[in-house]
Amino acid sequence: MRQYLKRAEKLLKQINELATISEQSGAITRTYGSEAFIKASQQIKNWMEAAGLDTYIDNIGNVRGKLTCSNPEAKTFVIGSHLDSVANAGKFDGPLGIVMGLEMVSQIDKNKLPFNIELIAFCDEEGVRFHSTYLGSKVVAGSFDKNNLKTKDASGISLQEVIISMGGNPDKLCEDAIKPDDWLGYFEIHIEQGPVLYERNIPVALVTAIAGQNRIEVMFKGVAGHAGTVPMDMRQDALCCAAEFIISVEKYANKHKKEIVATVGKLHIPNSASNVIPGLVTCTLDLRSADEAMLFSANIAIKNMCRDICQKRNVLMDWHQVQNTNPVTCDVSLNNLLNASIERAGYTVIQLVSGAGHDAVPISKISPATMLFVRCFKGISHNPLEDVELKDIAASIHVADIFLQQLIQQQK
Ligand code: HGY
Ligand code: MN
Ligand code: MN
Repeated sequence: MRQYLKRAEKLLKQINELATISEQSGAITRTYGSEAFIKASQQIKNWMEAAGLDTYIDNIGNVRGKLTCSNPEAKTFVIGSHLDSVANAGKFDGPLGIVMGLEMVSQIDKNKLPFNIELIAFCDEEGVRFHSTYLGSKVVAGSFDKNNLKTKDASGISLQEVIISMGGNPDKLCEDAIKPDDWLGYFEIHIEQGPVLYERNIPVALVTAIAGQNRIEVMFKGVAGHAGTVPMDMRQDALCCAAEFIISVEKYANKHKKEIVATVGKLHIPNSASNVIPGLVTCTLDLRSADEAMLFSANIAIKNMCRDICQKRNVLMDWHQVQNTNPVTCDVSLNNLLNASIERAGYTVIQLVSGAGHDAVPISKISPATMLFVRCFKGISHNPLEDVELKDIAASIHVADIFLQQLIQQQK
């Protein structure tokens, strides 16, 4: 274990280094295309080059490093995670999987490799700037929707403009996909972002499936008015309408808490003032379920609830579905290999479904994918209190080493 702890110290140093690169002083915020994002990309590119990888930044901004084996017909095994973050993030969500990938390839003699390895730091898994997620991994998986290029951020800048500002060519995104036949598989190491491993006192877990998620933007159009002169029974108050909707979402999700989770994470009141009845309010709705049918029916039920509340309050509703990803299952044979690796490393194997989304979601459509979860402090994530103990980083290095060696043996 001592050798793994030593290596874990190096990884923790890299994670701490990335954590200093932020667009927000006193917090970790690294959103797609920001200066901090570009600086972090450069840092990761330098690490990949130092690890002897053929490195480049692709047209959408993924940082990619390749170890090419001697067999020109060989497929490619991709290891990755994301370099972007939510606002006021923790330092492990994304970066842990990137530095773990660097560590894994640094142990490999490429002359004895029966397949290529590509390390990818994905550019936009969180979808903070443009609200649609997996932009980078969808390009690599060949499923990027060009309509996304027109999407504008809060300041009216389009995704297309950001790509060009970073030196990418939006017309060449399709050239950055890994062809379907070239995939051997995908492996992502990520913090659990949930409490199970912490409660069960187990360092790692196997991921069997990843919940589906809907991202929706709801606009409530009432009538702005004078807070002092409009009688209560004559108001079309967009904020009270949104508030009743938000409470009804929570009630619905609690009623179906075994199958879904629902979150209103953003509420925006343009031109708000204390003496103005809000006439326009927008909010986001994040809806998730591991059950595709449940996700679909919950979406419809909540949309109908919203419509009823708006009608009752004489407020107009605009329901915009930004993103819909169905639940995905991880690959059985890669999971069997990872399961055996966890056991050989001497750890109890538990299997979890991920409530959080990951770049493995779009990639699992085109390639076998497997994920290793790592315990994090009380399961806290998307929060600066996010933390991982050195011994759990060491445990995941141990498992990842065995996993990669077993894959090499299997592919020889
Ligand atoms: O929202 C998620 O599940 C992930 O953190 N992007
Ligand atoms: Mn993540
Ligand atoms: Mn996240």
